[in-house]
Amino acid sequence: MAELETRDKGKAAGLPAELRYIQYEHALEKQYLPSIRALISKDLSEPYSIYVYRYFLYQWGDLCFMALGPKSSLLGVIICKLETHQSHSPPTLRGYIAMLAVSEGWRNHGIATTLVRKAIDVMVERNADEVVLETEETNVPAMKLYERLGFIRSKKLHRYYLNGNSAYRLVLHLKKMADMAGEGLV
Ligand SMILES: CC(C)(COP(=O)(O)OP(=O)(O)OC[C@H]1O[C@@H](n2cnc3c(N)ncnc32)[C@H](O)[C@@H]1OP(=O)(O)O)[C@@H](O)C(=O)NCCC(=O)NCCS
Repeated sequence: MAELETRDKGKAAGLPAELRYIQYEHALEKQYLPSIRALISKDLSEPYSIYVYRYFLYQWGDLCFMALGPKSSLLGVIICKLETHQSHSPPTLRGYIAMLAVSEGWRNHGIATTLVRKAIDVMVERNADEVVLETEETNVPAMKLYERLGFIRSKKLHRYYLNGNSAYRLVLHLKKMADMAGEGLV
């Protein structure tokens, strides 16, 4: 069942009635991993091997969500991980958004926004301190999407990608936001 938030309802026009979001589980690998790889590699400058997908999905399948459309076709996917980050003192529990893609014909309807929110909700349930990711500095749709969700630019990574493009590391501070909400500041 589609679970679009009130803010996204205006964007729902044109979306299939069958749109639903599901959490990945290992039993779905055979059915969906080929389309997940196809969807993500279409827009990547550096395609990943199947082992990279399995690295994420075997350990953090509950942090992967898929948007499914007509005939259960894959419209969008998010793949993440959640690990202790030792270089902070004290160590932090850091969520990482590794891959996010929405099929070209279905963009700008809030699908990626919903996928990111669902992954963050699970990270919050699992007590994450922060969520980070990297995105190409020229990727305007991705930058806009994440900044609207509260991510801030923490670092510029010069020539980060093999194609020579630079990236921004973006971070969402979950605990600081929760503290501010507790103090009535947000
Ligand atoms: C980035 C991506 C996942 C967004 O998916 P989506 O489902 O279209 O995202 P949403 O509809 O939830 O939100 C898109 C936002 O970007 C904005 N946007 C889209 N194209 C834009 C453009 N060319 N210029 C400026 N803003 C743009 C939309 O208006 C929307 O912002 P708003 O809600 O403030 O209006 C999708 O474009 C994609 O798959 N891109 C290729 C893969 C990729 O870049 N992944 C991210 C890697 S970190």
